[in-house]
Amino acid sequence: MTVPTISTEDLRELLERGTPLTVLDVRPAAERAEWSIPGSVHADAYEALRRADPTALADFHPSNGDRVVTICAAGKTSRLAAERLRARGLDAVSLEGGMRAWSLAWNSAEVPSPGSTAWIVQLRRAGKGCLSYLIGSHGDAAVIDASLDPQVYHRVADEHGWRIGTVLETHLHADHLSRARAIAADTGARLCLPTTDRVSFEYAPLNDGDTLHVGSAGLRVFHTPGHTPESASYLLDERALFTGDTLFLAAVGRPDLEATPDESQRRAQLLHASLRRLVALPPDILVLPAHTSEPVAFDGRPIGTTLGEIRERLPLLRETEEAFVSYLLSRIPPTPPNYHRIVALNEAGTLPDDPTELEAGANRCAVA
Ligand SMILES: [Fe+2]
Repeated sequence: MTVPTISTEDLRELLERGTPLTVLDVRPAAERAEWSIPGSVHADAYEALRRADPTALADFHPSNGDRVVTICAAGKTSRLAAERLRARGLDAVSLEGGMRAWSLAWNSAEVPSPGSTAWIVQLRRAGKGCLSYLIGSHGDAAVIDASLDPQVYHRVADEHGWRIGTVLETHLHADHLSRARAIAADTGARLCLPTTDRVSFEYAPLNDGDTLHVGSAGLRVFHTPGHTPESASYLLDERALFTGDTLFLAAVGRPDLEATPDESQRRAQLLHASLRRLVALPPDILVLPAHTSEPVAFDGRPIGTTLGEIRERLPLLRETEEAFVSYLLSRIPPTPPNYHRIVALNEAGTLPDDPTELEAGANRCAVA
């Protein structure tokens, strides 16, 4: 039997439109715990399907109409699941390429920015939780921390009538391949990075106190080392703060990637000072980070909160340097998969033909 399939882009659009369907994840529980599609349901049927057990999925009943999209790691076992459900009369299709392909699924949220002339769109890589941004003002636009296919940024910029004139990064990423250089090449935009000697391509260096103009809006550069030596944060019109992996909504950046234990300690000290500087800004500033720790729902709600709220949530931000550093170094999470290779490619500014192979899995940039 030929089992019908659905592409990541088509499923993404169905979810964004709120179409009634059930997303059924048949991976083993341990794989699902790593990352999953928000709103999906789980049936731990992987082994049973592989051995053609006739009882596999027998007790699964969709809760949201007859339409079911089956999911596995790479799109093979999910076909067996869809076949099984179709034999029962359900409208089941299998996600092509599984979670590996889903790695590139995205959605967006418009971010209110009162007090600024700019309009902000948050572009979210749904599976990995990478957050990137398009900022538009008077037809001009900037992209921050591009982690999705460049076509996504072109499309959203076109929809808003914007021309991308600036592409910038908060730091060199370790969990995803940067699409910044590709977007700059496509559009002729200037490519800006915080000053670093880590990369082997040309860019416009940004230093603490610089201001970049996007239309009539201003982006002020704060050098906030710690997560990485070059990490920077960008303050838009004194209203919204793009913090990269320096400060999340309920966590701070990890200081240990590509660092010896001594360097990690030094970076944790730098991060303490950087965060001190950021939390001294006005409490009503909206913080917009480069990651969230959860898969992103298709709900159109921006992921961000005020600096004042984060100060309440994170007592760690009020700790002395010594307590902060020892807390951070005692809670370092496992390293992201393939991060050495991802960092090397980002330093070289190259993108492999199939980035998702290296990027699979959840992001692990935070210490909570
Ligand atoms: Fe990072």
